[in-house]
Amino acid sequence: MSKDLPTVLCVVGARPNFMKIAPIYACLLKYPEVIRAYLVHTGQHYDETMKDAFFRQLGIPEPNIDLEVGSGRHAVQTAQIMLKFEPVLDAVNPCCVLVVGDVNSTIACSLVAVKKQIPIIHVEAGLRSHDRTMPEEINRILTDQLSDLLFTTEESALQNLLAEGIAADKVHFVGNVMIDSLLTNLERAIPVADILKNHQAEMPWTIEPGKGYAVLTLHRPSNVDDTRVFEKILRTVRDVSCQIPVIFTVHPRTRKMIDQAGLGDLLNHSRILCLPPVPYLEMLGLLKDACMVLTDSGGLQEETTALGIPCITLRENTERPITIDQGTNTVVGSDPEKIRRCVTEILESGGKAGQIPRLWDGRSAERIVEIIKRVIIDPLCASHVGRDIRNHNRACGNL
Ligand code: UD1
Repeated sequence: MSKDLPTVLCVVGARPNFMKIAPIYACLLKYPEVIRAYLVHTGQHYDETMKDAFFRQLGIPEPNIDLEVGSGRHAVQTAQIMLKFEPVLDAVNPCCVLVVGDVNSTIACSLVAVKKQIPIIHVEAGLRSHDRTMPEEINRILTDQLSDLLFTTEESALQNLLAEGIAADKVHFVGNVMIDSLLTNLERAIPVADILKNHQAEMPWTIEPGKGYAVLTLHRPSNVDDTRVFEKILRTVRDVSCQIPVIFTVHPRTRKMIDQAGLGDLLNHSRILCLPPVPYLEMLGLLKDACMVLTDSGGLQEETTALGIPCITLRENTERPITIDQGTNTVVGSDPEKIRRCVTEILESGGKAGQIPRLWDGRSAERIVEIIKRVIIDPLCASHVGRDIRNHNRACGNL
C-alpha cells in the first residue's frame, strides 16, 4: 500500500456504523492500485459485545487507529472525538473523509474535516425524523450540510436534502449498505439453539419456526431514560409476552436504566427471555425465526423490511419512511393500547407483506466506491481533489 495514493479515510464509532462500513471498506480494498483505505475507530463503542464481535464477524480489519474516546455526555464525547481526530487528519492527509449514519462520531469527525477543507462523504444522507429532540437528527442535519458527496438509501432523502438547500448534483441514490451486509451474511446467521448455548440461556418455551417469538430491542433515550415511559413500555411487553414469547436483547444503556429504576421484576416472566447485546450473526439468527420485531432502532426497521418480517416501531416517528410505505414497518410510539393492537393484528393476519425497496440489492457499496473513484480519485491528482470539489461547489454556488 503506497502512501502516495489518495487516501479515503473511513470513520466508525458506534455499533450501527459497523455493518455500514464493512461492505464499503471491503470494496475500497479491492482497488489497492488507486486507493489507500484507512480506518479510524473513534472508540465511542468499545467493548466485546458492542464492537469487537462486530469487527470479527463482519471481517472488518483492525482499525489503523483507535481514538479510544469511550462513553460520555454528548458534549464531552463529541469534543473528545474532535480533539483526537484532528492530529490524525494532519498525519494521514486524506483526499476525503467518509462517515456513515448519524452517531456522535459522524458529526464530530465531519466538523474537524470541513475546517481543514477535506471533502466529506456521507453515507446514509438525507434521512429525517423531523424530530429535533433526537440527538441523531441533529447529527444528520449538520453532517449533510457539511458534506460534499451524499449517498442516500431511499428516494425521499433527496427531497429532504433539497428542502435544506443542498444541491442535487452532490446527491447520489445508491441503496442501502446495511442491506449489503445483511445479504452477504444471512447464510452465516447463528441458529437460535446455538445462541442460547453461547449465552448459557434456556428457552423457557418451545419455538415454532416462523411464529415462535418476537424480538425486542430498546435503547432510545426517549424510551428508556424517563422511568415512567420505560416502565409503561416494559409493562406492555409483559402483556404482549402472554400473546407471543419475547426475546429481549438488552442494550447496555437499557440495562443500566433497568437496574437504576429497579424495573428488573417486570422482565422476570417465563415468556420473556433477556439476553445481553448480541453480535451481528446472532441477531441475524434471532431475526430469521422471529414472527415480529418490536424496536426503537433505525437499522432494524430496515433489516426487517429487507427480510419481510413485520416490525413494530416503538417511536413516534421514523426517519426511514420507505419502511412504512413499502416495507413491513408500523410506527406505533409507546402507547400500550396501540402496541397491543398491532401485535394482535400481526398474529392474526401475518402483518404487512411489504416489498423490497429499490436498490436494496446488496450492491450499494459497489456503487458508492465507483462514484468515489469517478468523482474524487480519478480527476488528475489526488492532492487537488479537495480543491477541485470545493471549486466546483463554489462555481455552483453551493459554498
Ligand atoms: C449510540 C448512538 C445511537 C445508536 C446507538 C447504538 C449517538 C448520539 N447515539 O447511542 O444513534 O443507535 O449508539 O448502540 O451517537 N456502553 C457499553 N459498551 C459500549 C458502548 C456503550 O457498555 O461499548 C454503554 C455506556 O455505558 C453508555 C451506554 O452504553 O453509557 C450508551 O452508549 P452511547 O454510545 O453513549 O450511546 P447509545 O445510547 O449506545
